[in-house]
Amino acid sequence: MRYFSQATGIRGPSGFGSRSTAEQVTDSIDASGRTVIITGGSSGIGVETARVMALRGAHVIIGARNLEAADSVKQGILQNTPSAKIDIIELELSSQNSVRAFADKFLAMNLPLNILINNAGVMNCPYNLSEDGIELQFATNHIGHFLLANLLLDKMKSTAEETGIEGRIVILSSAAHLVTYREGIRFDKINDKNTYNSHSAYGQSKLANILHAKELAKHLKEEGANVTVNAVNPGLIKTNLMRHSVFYFTMLRVLLFVLWKNIPQGAATSCYVALHPSLKGVSGEYFADCNIETPTAKGRNEELAKKLWELSETLIK
Ligand SMILES: NC(=O)c1ccc[n+]([C@@H]2O[C@H](COP(=O)([O-])OP(=O)(O)OC[C@H]3O[C@@H](n4cnc5c(N)ncnc54)[C@H](OP(=O)(O)O)[C@@H]3O)[C@@H](O)[C@H]2O)c1
Repeated sequence: MRYFSQATGIRGPSGFGSRSTAEQVTDSIDASGRTVIITGGSSGIGVETARVMALRGAHVIIGARNLEAADSVKQGILQNTPSAKIDIIELELSSQNSVRAFADKFLAMNLPLNILINNAGVMNCPYNLSEDGIELQFATNHIGHFLLANLLLDKMKSTAEETGIEGRIVILSSAAHLVTYREGIRFDKINDKNTYNSHSAYGQSKLANILHAKELAKHLKEEGANVTVNAVNPGLIKTNLMRHSVFYFTMLRVLLFVLWKNIPQGAATSCYVALHPSLKGVSGEYFADCNIETPTAKGRNEELAKKLWELSETLIK
């Protein structure tokens, strides 16, 4: 049923579906006065997310490791939306020092923080360790974002308290969370080179994104914080993400061409979850095509989410 609606664009209960674009799902939403951080805003889905957030009036902070590319994104947005407020801060997610420096620089700007979109990601890279000694896909896609959310959470809570506007964290996951290792998260073998599989490692990191959203949502609810957190599957979109698996994705494009989206459609679910008023209070969910969807059993496993939280805390110390 899900593949049918994905292929046909039939709209779900939210009124939106796979063909909805980021502009359509945020139509007439006023985001002025809100500040949003978008990681990986220098390419693909992040560029369109930044553009539409700025179009809706939000002050956009792009976290990027390629400052030149981020600046050309900024100039492109300014050309069409001269009133756009966009700042760029350097961010290398695979380096915990860089994540901490990013957070320090942002906090020194004394801005509110309403929305955090953990969008950046790498996929199917050959085995590598980050400068902190963590397998690169897990370090970039999950640990860097876990640390970033931790460092910015107090700011998000205080902004929500002072303004009365619900804070929102959006974490980009993927349908690829389905193809993780057998254990889901390999707690004892996160860095194991001998059994490394680039596809499973990507799936593991995307499962971690869902479990992170789930566990963080639980903590925030327990605290009574006015901040929600949800995971998002943007769909299948041709971007630079596929650079390590060009042949594999060319085949997928041929075989599953009806399921592929363009970039404005790919950014829709992130923008919808970040801004749409109908999602007030909705937290700990997994969204695809702008509708709530059920992730795999591993993605719903509370024990796994708790264990991942503990591992992640150890890895950022
Ligand atoms: N495209 C899809 O079909 C698809 C499907 C499911 C999920 N997703 C998810 O959607 C998100 C966005 O992906 P995309 O398709 O837009 O890919 P993309 O075009 O490759 O964009 C990824 C962004 O992340 C940045 N990035 C990568 N590693 C980084 C690091 N270590 N530090 C800081 N920034 C880093 C990239 O910067 P550089 O340009 O410098 O590399 C780029 O700006 C990812 O989380 C991905 O897993 C995508």
